[in-house]
Amino acid sequence: MRLTPNDITKGQTPIVMLTAYTAPVARLLDPHVDILLTGDSVGMVLYGYPDTLSVTLDMMIAHGGAVVRNSQHALVVVDMPAGTYEKSPDEALKNAQRLMSETGCGAVKLEGGENVAPTVKHLVKNGVPVMGHIGLLPQSVKQMGGYKIQGRDEAGAQKLIADAKAIAGAGAFAMVVEGTVEPVARAITEAVPIPTIGIGASVACDGQVLVINDILGLTEKPPKFAKRFAELAPLIAKAAETYANDVRARRFPTVEHVYGEKK
Ligand code: KIV
Repeated sequence: MRLTPNDITKGQTPIVMLTAYTAPVARLLDPHVDILLTGDSVGMVLYGYPDTLSVTLDMMIAHGGAVVRNSQHALVVVDMPAGTYEKSPDEALKNAQRLMSETGCGAVKLEGGENVAPTVKHLVKNGVPVMGHIGLLPQSVKQMGGYKIQGRDEAGAQKLIADAKAIAGAGAFAMVVEGTVEPVARAITEAVPIPTIGIGASVACDGQVLVINDILGLTEKPPKFAKRFAELAPLIAKAAETYANDVRARRFPTVEHVYGEKK
């Protein structure tokens, strides 16, 4: 049975979330995680854009659909990309409903705090489960002056706690807390009744999320918080090199890779 937003609650065992953008990766991750996030990080990870700002709703629908079709256990959450929810709550609802119906995902995620709380409320009231995302907001990287850790001073910390309360009060079922210091992550986690899922936000959250390519060692310069749990880059390069050498030396294909003639 697939997990739903109602299954994602605060508890003893931390919630495990990873990003997934493609069918084969979704199939591999699904048995091990509670939530698969088709994040708009897809723009940087798979498409090589410098940030997430060029990602479109159609891209999220294509990748989110692949992840839903190729998983059966995890709750699938799909990001609303920049420009699809800021104009008005009604426009956000129309786009969120497209994401839900065209991918079959269980929830959407959007970035922001007090400023997006009315939109979150509107989506939830109309039956769209929402995961919030506060702290460092990649879609606002230009306004924030870069990928900067948030809440380091008292005013910043209070702002993040107010953002968290606004998102929880608007009816989100969980929220990502990105790029902040441990005392602030702890204060947020204690201040809200819904689970916090940290990325670069210490162990003081109810769960953790990382970008799949970062943990597989496929990102050239991963952020400090992204532990590499495998080193796939040299394996892939070696496979390509061996293939190229075998083709050039006519060692590939051999008889076992060739179709026989029809008798
Ligand atoms: O887009 C994404 O992958 C995300 C995670 C970093 C939380 O939002």
